[in-house]
Amino acid sequence: MNFQEVLNKSRPLVGPHCKACLICDGRACCNQIPGPGSKGSGRVATRNYEGWQDVFVKMDTIVPKGKIDTTLTLFGKTFKYPIFAGPVGAVAMHYSDLYSDQTFYKTLLAGAKKAGICAFTGDGMDPAIMIDACQEIKNQDGLGVPTIKPWPKEIVLEKLELVKNSKAFMVAMDIDAAGLPFLKSFTPPAGRKSVQELKEIIDASPVPFMLKGIMSEEGAIKALEAGAKAIVVSNHGGRVLDGTPSSASVLEKIAKVVDGRMKIFVDGGLRSGVDIFKALAMGADVVLVARPFVNAVYGAGEEGVEVLVETLGQELKDTMEMCGASDLASIDKTMITR
Ligand SMILES: Cc1cc2nc3c(=O)[nH]c(=O)nc-3n(C[C@H](O)[C@H](O)[C@H](O)COP(=O)(O)O)c2cc1C
Repeated sequence: MNFQEVLNKSRPLVGPHCKACLICDGRACCNQIPGPGSKGSGRVATRNYEGWQDVFVKMDTIVPKGKIDTTLTLFGKTFKYPIFAGPVGAVAMHYSDLYSDQTFYKTLLAGAKKAGICAFTGDGMDPAIMIDACQEIKNQDGLGVPTIKPWPKEIVLEKLELVKNSKAFMVAMDIDAAGLPFLKSFTPPAGRKSVQELKEIIDASPVPFMLKGIMSEEGAIKALEAGAKAIVVSNHGGRVLDGTPSSASVLEKIAKVVDGRMKIFVDGGLRSGVDIFKALAMGADVVLVARPFVNAVYGAGEEGVEVLVETLGQELKDTMEMCGASDLASIDKTMITR
């Protein structure tokens, strides 16, 4: 099966809002929320996709022949590719009730592990989502990244206990979920946190802590001050604030200011191995792909996940071969142009 076939299978199953487009660029779903679209004008997801299309790769095949190594080592774990599946929550509402969050994460985590990579899981108003996601991560030998919403500290600490029991090798908080309406109406309100509040949470974390949703150099410095070991350069696919720049347009500036002191992940509109190569050349260590993995799961379950990972991974390998890179460390900004 190829990914086109997986998409074709997912189209009738994935609900009224997602059109299972060959290239998931935010046009067909635009501002559909509920649905996989973006907030307000609905243009940010498309801007994310186009951000990578404004960057070009430089071909150079006058290099010594040799094996191409796409292996990533991260916080003591080794992965086949620097590509992880990003968290997508409330799938029954945004896509279709063929899957619940629980069955979706179970399938995604298992497929990702079989494919040699790793998946993020999300959190929700229903505490059972995080409890079950952590259990599934444990079932996959800790190969999963639970993502906690920015709840009040006491609740985050309870969720960190679940993370500890899950044996997850790292944990994330989508700090930008402050822009989701359902969190604002929580009592006490969930959302924005000071550096000091984050520091107290991160100090209590049993594993390396990542902040997801950083879009500026200032935000990256604050994440560093709070003790984060990693960030995701992300605007949540345009779902939390309209009018933001693309993640591609801020990545290099953020990577420069971080200067190797935190691991840098990036997401938003990365749809091919060539896009992934560009992100790595611009300073990312790992790339997250989110919406296409929903089509992968709805279309063909674990096998769909494996097909998508291999498609992206082989495209990345091919791009490395054509641009003179032999391993991830050798991909640098001299290999791209605008
Ligand atoms: C329907 C939907 C639900 C999402 N739920 C979450 C979530 O629970 N936690 C989170 O951190 N990000 C969530 N995201 C954001 C994604 O993880 C990712 O940041 C964003 O979609 C950009 O990546 P993409 O362009 O590859 O989809 C969600 C995105 C979508 C479309």
